[in-house]
Amino acid sequence: MSTENRQKIIVANWKMYKTIGETAEFIKELIQELSEQSPSVYLAVPFTAIKTASDLAEGNDIVIGAQNMNDASEGAFTGEIAGRMLKDAGAKFVILGHSERRQIYKESNAFINRKVKRAIKDDLQAILCVGETLEEREEGTTQEILNKQITECLEGVDVSELNKIILAYEPIWAIGTGKTATPEMAEEAHQFCRQSLKNISNKETADSISILYGGSVKPDNAKGLMEQPDIDGLLVGGASLSLDSFFKIVNDSGSESKK
Ligand code: PGA
Repeated sequence: MSTENRQKIIVANWKMYKTIGETAEFIKELIQELSEQSPSVYLAVPFTAIKTASDLAEGNDIVIGAQNMNDASEGAFTGEIAGRMLKDAGAKFVILGHSERRQIYKESNAFINRKVKRAIKDDLQAILCVGETLEEREEGTTQEILNKQITECLEGVDVSELNKIILAYEPIWAIGTGKTATPEMAEEAHQFCRQSLKNISNKETADSISILYGGSVKPDNAKGLMEQPDIDGLLVGGASLSLDSFFKIVNDSGSESKK
């Protein structure tokens, strides 16, 4: 399998944490720590901090993005935000279909699919999250669920545009629980996700898409996960809030591309 072109990416998902001031402080310190050997660092910050974060990150190899967006380009949708607005504030990517959006706000694959298409139109890279619940894993339906999420969320996306997608495998039972999938379990799921991507495109495209692992990633398990051939990066929640633990994860994840 060719892994040469896949970008290594470490993403911080800050969820509903950090003010503008806290964001600025974090980024200024992070810039001091990163080197040319570091993998790509993406920060999914709160909407309010996107502008400040992207101004500070400019020219510093840190990519700023958002954690959600609406599927419409504008309209009477009180409290929602459009991809164009994120782009306007400086965002380069957006996380879509995170399990907290799916579970708490009942987002369906069809809705997430419309958001993915809108993000591509708005020139935002989409990080599409997929993952099974504990119940689904125990019932043995993990692969069925992953395949359904991948197929339905990417339905109608042209093969030539799939390179604008990053996939994130996040088993729901591992998010914020302290339980991580073992590197072997994660690798198995990643291989399956890549096969699913291949089924909707072709080998070359599927092999070029970065697939991230997320769910209780910590400094002590990052390296083992990143050593797996199909794990191209990490989506880090809790451990990305402190610069110390986030930087350890970045540092342990090796250099720029997956070789
Ligand atoms: P966690 O969150 O690292 O705190 O488990 C990951 C995520 O929700 O993306």
